[in-house]
Amino acid sequence: MSEAVRRVGIVGIGNVGKAAASAILHENIADELYISDIDTERAKGEAFDFADSIELTPSRTRVAEVPLAGLAVCDVILVAVTERKKVISDSRLELLKGSAAITYDIVPKLRKAGFKGKYVIATNPCDIITYLFYKLSGLPKNHVIGTGTALDSMRFRRLLSKAIGNVDPRSINAFMVGEHGDSQIAAWSHVTVGGQPLDQFEADNADVFPKINREEVEDAARHFGWEIHKRKGNTQFGIGNELAFFARSILNDARIVTAASVVQNGEYGQHDLAIGVPIVLGRNGVEKIIRYQLSEKEWEGFSASADLIKRYTTQTLE
Ligand code: 2OP
Repeated sequence: MSEAVRRVGIVGIGNVGKAAASAILHENIADELYISDIDTERAKGEAFDFADSIELTPSRTRVAEVPLAGLAVCDVILVAVTERKKVISDSRLELLKGSAAITYDIVPKLRKAGFKGKYVIATNPCDIITYLFYKLSGLPKNHVIGTGTALDSMRFRRLLSKAIGNVDPRSINAFMVGEHGDSQIAAWSHVTVGGQPLDQFEADNADVFPKINREEVEDAARHFGWEIHKRKGNTQFGIGNELAFFARSILNDARIVTAASVVQNGEYGQHDLAIGVPIVLGRNGVEKIIRYQLSEKEWEGFSASADLIKRYTTQTLE
């Protein structure tokens, strides 16, 4: 019996979309990659250029530009649209108006075309756009996933790794939760190194590395995107690879734990919004939401972050 054809779509072939496409093609994640953009000629050019790159990689992926409705056959659609030439200065929320307008345009068209797969959304402001995709798509909430604080969490683990003697970040369980933005917080109460609580790991290695300045590390993780943005005018490869990771995890039913912006149904005391929390990611998209017993201080930060997202989400839905 022939294997099911794994189809991934990308809507928006700007810097992030291109980075995601490159990762998808070169990691052989899909059998078919469909690219769609409002600038069809540019999307065609990118598809031709990517096709040139295939022979030199282990990939056999077929890549093509398609009209938006052509993405409806995909198992996963990666969303990397953004208002063209919009320059932001200090908050992803500045992108809300343009991103919401694009969302109100494309999601009903994809719904009409019969898309029943999973959305993975990088478009900022990610949490609000993720919820808008959910409301407009007619899909169950486990099908609509924002990259959310997944990228922030990778940054957090990398900064922690440096602070504790370069333990591989993949051996550190550490998540940023809340808004993919300035109100996100570190779930310090659940940070472990190889399963050992961070407090214990720090105490056992007090002679090896100095006590972690937690406020400094948390703030650096929260603002790391800006350190890149202010130097190159965007971020691209981290988020592009994050999109490819989500696609691969869904297609391969990885059942892996990651942070993601997902629609809440009370798991963290919140409803009617999408916010960054740890989840299990697999074939069904959000397989489960992992409920942390946050510390009092963390609950305060998380709730403030949820209030901010809720405020902007309500505005966008009006
Ligand atoms: C970032 O933090 C694109 O918002 C994304 O890199």
